[in-house]
Amino acid sequence: RADDHAKTSRFPFKAIDIQTDGTIHVPEGYQWKVMTSWGDPLFSDADGYEIAEGGALENSDRVFGENTDGMESFVYRGHQLLVINHEYTNNDINLPAAQEGVPANADDVLKLQNLQGLSVVEIAESDNGWAIVKDSPFNRRITHNSPMKIAGPAAGHELMKTTADASGTESLGTMNNCGSGKTPWGTYLTCEENFNGYFGSTVAEQAPESEQVAAGYSRYGIGAEGWGYDYHKWDERFDTSKNPNEPHRVGWVVELDPSNPEAVPVKHTGLGRFKHENAECVLAPDGRVVVYMGDDERGEYLYRFVSNGTYSAGGSTEGLLDEGTLFVAKFNDDQTGEWLALTPESTGMELAELLIFARQASSAVGATTMDRPEWISVNPNAIEAYCCLTNNKNRGVKPNEGGDDTSTNGPNPRDSNNYGQIVRWRPHNDDHASQSFDWDLYVMAGNPGVYNNEYAGSENITAGNLFNSPDGMSFDSNGLLWIQTDGDDSNEEEYAGMGNNQMLVGDPVTGEIARFLTGPNGSEVTGLTWSADRRTMFVGIQHPGGNFPEGGSLPRSSIVAVKRDDNGLIG
Ligand code: FEO
Ligand code: CA
Ligand code: CA
Ligand code: CA
Repeated sequence: RADDHAKTSRFPFKAIDIQTDGTIHVPEGYQWKVMTSWGDPLFSDADGYEIAEGGALENSDRVFGENTDGMESFVYRGHQLLVINHEYTNNDINLPAAQEGVPANADDVLKLQNLQGLSVVEIAESDNGWAIVKDSPFNRRITHNSPMKIAGPAAGHELMKTTADASGTESLGTMNNCGSGKTPWGTYLTCEENFNGYFGSTVAEQAPESEQVAAGYSRYGIGAEGWGYDYHKWDERFDTSKNPNEPHRVGWVVELDPSNPEAVPVKHTGLGRFKHENAECVLAPDGRVVVYMGDDERGEYLYRFVSNGTYSAGGSTEGLLDEGTLFVAKFNDDQTGEWLALTPESTGMELAELLIFARQASSAVGATTMDRPEWISVNPNAIEAYCCLTNNKNRGVKPNEGGDDTSTNGPNPRDSNNYGQIVRWRPHNDDHASQSFDWDLYVMAGNPGVYNNEYAGSENITAGNLFNSPDGMSFDSNGLLWIQTDGDDSNEEEYAGMGNNQMLVGDPVTGEIARFLTGPNGSEVTGLTWSADRRTMFVGIQHPGGNFPEGGSLPRSSIVAVKRDDNGLIG
């Protein structure tokens, strides 16, 4: 019968229980193995890299970086390549213990800068499993000091110029690389998220001369203290009293060509400056490039870029991520929505300024405040997209001065929101470039063991699949939706029965959700991609606690390879 058929699970595994221990669990018939961890050498001259004191400075830009996050896989001339983000450093781990996470000199800062950014690696599978091909000509580290090009409408603008770069078109480093994306032409997109935390001022009473710059600092959370990286005390570039425009040169989506180890990464200012989570690309029916992007902060917004030009396989990609229109989402209570164009006419700001200060531009047009938009993923089998709204633990409290209030609204309906939800939208006319869409909530996470109201979650939440704070998310080639969590793993009180952070899989048609993997305690599960033959799934384990994975004195962020015991297809 049709309704029975609709309820037949498409998941080829038996869902696993929650876990609270220090290792990884996968279903019966599956296995996992660490492929690489922070500190592993990409080049043989970095063999024996010392991590005991949090990592040596020497060769810190020749080893796999800290805190793996978004990643994508590529095949180039038969070589299997992975590009991986290293979002941030755990300073209490990456600096000698006696320093309690506080950099003591410029060398400490340089080490932290080197352990973040990106890794490009060639990988290969042998009888011992997957490993990095050491010394591959494709292997490459991008750090907080690697040269970048700035392209698009904000390149060269006064607000982008610094003493070191009077052109406003060449910056150094890509920072707080969180989620990722892949263009239709096979390049990698890395997304700069909490870039504000690296900046500070050596002048305590920080007041940029320009009112516009000061307002931008308030809205993006740039203060005199920073978030503890203390770069500004040892590296003038990050001292906003000396380089007030440097923060305008981060907060972008950056494109990298993994097939060319010499290629200079490009910051595409047309995609707007905010705390980027990921960048999900899809082609409209007419070939225009659509990029969906979330700004992960309470009360900020969900964005879409639509290119002016069109892409066809093998054709020119010139300007496709530079010339186009940035839109911000407005969700109506009747489950429709529209994309509001951010233009000089709609915002009263000039083009470069509305891109640099995309948050203020979005407030000006009346966009819908969201509960922290994390990853967005487009269904390969249907014209629809999904975004994790991870949580909002401070409803009504403005995250940053100048922000909008964060009262409840259609897709963000719960007052205090510790669990999160996933919103889905279907563009009208089956066209991701349409101006309007219909939306619904794919899942509202919750805890029916504790609550019997809206905090119990939506119907597809059961005692067997409890989770909170959805964050990473990717569709596989079969059209199943993999959901990774970055939430409270205390397993107590309102989080009772949720266990460690985890990866689940959702069926977009039936709504069914099942738990596939649990991470070690303390960790967040983030980053997901597949080998070219789809017999391996690569999963990132960020900021594990304890001494994962091998019982040394320090926990190591790692990428694990997950396979079926029978080496069958896995997504
Ligand atoms: Fe880096 Fe919003 O997660
Ligand atoms: Ca994330
Ligand atoms: Ca998160
Ligand atoms: Ca994280």
